[in-house]
Amino acid sequence: MPEEQEQPSPERPGMTAADYEEFKRRILELTGLDLSSYKQRQMQRRINSLMESLKVPTYRQYFQLLQADPVRYEEFLKRITINVSEFFRNPERFADLEQKYLPQLLAKRRPLKVWSAGCSTGPEPYSLAILLLDLAPGLPHRVLATDIDKAVLEKAKAGVYQASELKNVSPARLARYFDQVGEAYRVKDEVKAIVDIRRHNLLTDPFDRNFDLILCRNVVIYFTEDAKHLLYQKFYQALAPGGFFLVGGTEPILRYREYGYEAIGPTFYRRPETTAAGGR
Ligand SMILES: C[S@@+](CC[C@H](N)C(=O)[O-])C[C@H]1O[C@@H](n2cnc3c(N)ncnc32)[C@H](O)[C@@H]1O
Repeated sequence: MPEEQEQPSPERPGMTAADYEEFKRRILELTGLDLSSYKQRQMQRRINSLMESLKVPTYRQYFQLLQADPVRYEEFLKRITINVSEFFRNPERFADLEQKYLPQLLAKRRPLKVWSAGCSTGPEPYSLAILLLDLAPGLPHRVLATDIDKAVLEKAKAGVYQASELKNVSPARLARYFDQVGEAYRVKDEVKAIVDIRRHNLLTDPFDRNFDLILCRNVVIYFTEDAKHLLYQKFYQALAPGGFFLVGGTEPILRYREYGYEAIGPTFYRRPETTAAGGR
């Protein structure tokens, strides 16, 4: 999605740096969402352009609006977090999972416990579920699918997608795992049954543990370095020894060794089976 045009830096009354700080503090209190963990310039630009479109002149008034109007609040959340996704996004990475990493995991442990963190409308966790059903059917695998945005989770639960979101799904899988509903396709109950969809804020909520595989792709792009640093430590702790971690193509973890990971393939990392001192 293209970035918005640069707004003139507003220092009007009610729109000063101090007013923005106050807005961030109140949003944190209201929602648990810490805007300080997102890159400041991009975030402020998004919020300012949203306010402009609503003709709200000050951060204080915008906060009051968000507090009073759930529709505006969801719109705010949608705007600051970008929800684009599709099935088998970056097909080469899903091929790596299907041909290499999932078979390795399945050779050691069944069923598998997997997490799609920042799952948006659901294509990523459902793609993982389809791979698990293909590779090791009939087992109670669990794919945890989490996102901060309630609206996308509703769509994930409905599991209905347009053909454009399914362009990387083979005809055989489309026939096997989806029902056609008019122009759209609905994920079958067999796939839904292993996907557990929940609201979760990666920046503030506690992490579950013992995952064999975690995917967190195209989520951290707007996070600050500090927020990412904390997140990579928490993902490490959430992985089972020998578990794999896949990040987005443009988000390699440069200092992966510091957290204890091994780099094992393009944007794939692993928590070693036996953890060296310092890695935990
Ligand atoms: C571009 S989508 C990525 C979807 C999927 N992982 C993919 O790569 O196709 C980014 C998602 O991250 C979510 N997100 C942003 N900040 C978050 C946070 N603090 N906690 C959880 N999810 C967050 C957004 O709501 C959005 O749905």
